[in-house]
Amino acid sequence: MQTKHTLPLELGSRSYNILIGNDLFSGLDKALSSILTGRQVAVVSNTTVAPLYLDRLLSVLRRGGFSVLPIILEDGEEHKNWTTLQTIFNALIENRFERTSTLIALGGGVIGDMTGFAAASYLRGVPFIQIPTTLLAQVDASVGGKTGINHTLGKNLIGAFYQPRMVAIDLDTLKTLPRRELLAGLAEVIKYGIIWDADLFSLLEEKLDAILETDTTVLAEVIHRCCAIKADIVAADEREQGQRALLNLGHTFGHAIETLTRYETYLHGEAVAVGMIMAADLSQQMGLCDKADLTRISTLIERSGLPTKGPAFSADNYLSAMARDKKVEHGKIRYILVDGIGKSSIHSEVDVALIKSAINNNLQPKR
Ligand code: NAD
Ligand code: GLY
Repeated sequence: MQTKHTLPLELGSRSYNILIGNDLFSGLDKALSSILTGRQVAVVSNTTVAPLYLDRLLSVLRRGGFSVLPIILEDGEEHKNWTTLQTIFNALIENRFERTSTLIALGGGVIGDMTGFAAASYLRGVPFIQIPTTLLAQVDASVGGKTGINHTLGKNLIGAFYQPRMVAIDLDTLKTLPRRELLAGLAEVIKYGIIWDADLFSLLEEKLDAILETDTTVLAEVIHRCCAIKADIVAADEREQGQRALLNLGHTFGHAIETLTRYETYLHGEAVAVGMIMAADLSQQMGLCDKADLTRISTLIERSGLPTKGPAFSADNYLSAMARDKKVEHGKIRYILVDGIGKSSIHSEVDVALIKSAINNNLQPKR
């Protein structure tokens, strides 16, 4: 086990550490023993990740004296629902899981969100641990305690804020991640540079090739910086009353892209990548950032191999899809805008003509 970084997320009695390193699995029994009182754990994973990592995790945990129940779910966002949650609860009840029993999420954001919500509600709350295995989950979904499932009428509509007891990021898991998923996670990494950390953005510009080759030394540094930003933001605003909303840069436009294409064409991170360009374009039109900032953002996204253009729907179609976003407050859409690389702000009064032009400037040509 080689822990490269241990990062605290400070939330009083609910504080926890984010461990980042290589071969973390091998030391997890000791790391868990130091924070858990119970010895009964369930590892929740899916049919893609379990064959890759479950055996190793189980043997380490059993060696450490834990009794372990694997719960393997179908892979896919379409399974992030009540039915699958029920599968988790059934297994926990049938195996007499108690208040001191612990749930471990082994997988991407879908597994992390569902396991977290199961942990938040089973017996009114049991401990849970995040072992995120996608870049997106390592830099975003596993940190900060947003948990939940989808409803047929919308994504992530049912859930709870519930913090894990530990996040263990094993960089080696990224080696098996499909490239397209790695890039989708990279979009969220770029987001942190844009909203908060100009030096991170420059580092990404400089080290992009190494990241694309899954160089774990560079990735350790990048993931550490992203988690440090998220930890600071969440520590100051756990329930998204204010600055946590900055983490949604590009997500309102991205949500419209996902909805208009019925979640079939763009991965979430890909839609966010285009959404960030639309948000930066809007910001530049409003005089909040320079053309040079917009160019750097779209260039980095393009160099990453992420899409830079949205599907060719009308701006009115985009606006009505955006209005159905769950982040709408008092009927108003809140836009996260770019005040130059490394700085961002929240706006609810934005000229619709400028929004339409930011959309139209960044669409694929009509076929
Ligand atoms: P995902 O969990 O669906 O994982 C993507 C794919 O990669 C899946 O097929 C998965 O089985 C596979 N996979 C995972 N790890 C792998 C590995 N190491 N090797 C090979 N394949 C692997 O998707 P995601 O992008 O990780 O997460 C998206 C989900 O996260 C969405 O449901 C979204 O709502 C949620 N999310 C939550 C938060 C939050 O704050 N809670 C933030 C962002 C996103
Ligand atoms: N992914 C956004 C948040 O955690 O607030």
